[in-house]
Amino acid sequence: MLRVSIVGVTGYGGGELVRLLGKRADVKLIELVGRSAAGRPLGEVFPSLAPLGLTLSAGDQLERPEEADFVFLALPHHASAEKAAEILENAPQTKVIDLSADFRLRDLATYEAWYGSHPAPYLLKEAVYGLPELYRAKLNSGVRLVANPGCYPTCSSLALAPALKGEAIIEPDVIINALSGTSGAGRELKQNLHYSELNESASAYGLAPAGHRHLPEIRQVLEDQYGGPVEVLFTPHLLPLTRGMLATCYARLTPAFLAEHRDPKSVNAALRERYRDFYKNDPFVMVVDSPPTTKQVQTSNYCFIYPTADLRTGRLVTVAVLDNLVKGAAGEAVQNMNLLAGLPETTGLEMLSVYP
Ligand SMILES: NC(=O)c1ccc[n+]([C@@H]2O[C@H](COP(=O)([O-])OP(=O)(O)OC[C@H]3O[C@@H](n4cnc5c(N)ncnc54)[C@H](OP(=O)(O)O)[C@@H]3O)[C@@H](O)[C@H]2O)c1
Repeated sequence: MLRVSIVGVTGYGGGELVRLLGKRADVKLIELVGRSAAGRPLGEVFPSLAPLGLTLSAGDQLERPEEADFVFLALPHHASAEKAAEILENAPQTKVIDLSADFRLRDLATYEAWYGSHPAPYLLKEAVYGLPELYRAKLNSGVRLVANPGCYPTCSSLALAPALKGEAIIEPDVIINALSGTSGAGRELKQNLHYSELNESASAYGLAPAGHRHLPEIRQVLEDQYGGPVEVLFTPHLLPLTRGMLATCYARLTPAFLAEHRDPKSVNAALRERYRDFYKNDPFVMVVDSPPTTKQVQTSNYCFIYPTADLRTGRLVTVAVLDNLVKGAAGEAVQNMNLLAGLPETTGLEMLSVYP
């Protein structure tokens, strides 16, 4: 039996963790901490979770971290790092899976440039980046701190890794146009998320010069795959969807690849074969035969990927979709817990999408 605590259970990420873990026979939820609803039934915070009959912890702090095998932190950055440091100091046997960005960037200066001062920089070295498809070999029972990836980095990195790794078939200069639903921004109310501001509308954000905080994370992952510098132009967009993320990624195909593939039909078959081979041991990645939609993966832990070549422009165009709260957050976090616990990676995550 795995003993699990969740901090930040009043937010979307925390609620989704309870949805994924609450019915598992091999998991016991021991502390559910949410500062704005201490002591209240979880069903009051998330009526959809009422059938579980759970109640939040009486206080706004984790009281017994040492009793948990795993603590999930579903908090904003900074608050997460402070909590992770406290847990790892007081309960050295407990493993922490952090959904925030606090431990994702290996380089402190890069973190501080995008997020400000780091509350626990000494933990950066210890954290393992939890994108199982690309870092599985590092996700084992010896790990105490997992940096769960961002939703945009998961979606875009999975879309591009097979083209960059090994003998790269694209130039290391990529463009990512990504779309997200509103739950990606969390449960807190913000003006641009009001129904009347967002409905029947779409917007780009995180443009230069400021850029979006997921940019350095995407670059770090792609550079790990490529083994050298990768230029990334990343533009996120907000759409009036509740859940869902779609990334369309572009890059120039290498002259060697183009010389070998001149037929528009067979080039796509070759690309799909390369991608399928890359993900042959990854139960949650499916390389599909037609452009996927966000609805096809909604509420599931799957990422569907469609690579194609536009031979007129000599570019790779890859479309990837996932559910930002599942494969982009809580589902990936549970996948990481399974790996650290030595369980099959798919445990409790095999549900299919709700469709239509
Ligand atoms: N939403 C996504 O699709 C997604 C995807 C990947 C990663 N993430 C990351 O996951 C984390 C949680 O995101 P979310 O979408 O669940 O956010 P959210 O819905 O806004 O929830 C945030 C949670 O953190 C708590 N909280 C906020 N500030 C706190 C503080 N200073 N001390 C203690 N608790 C605090 C909130 O408690 P109260 O509301 O009770 O005050 C709430 O439980 C974030 O770091 C986010 O970047 C989110």
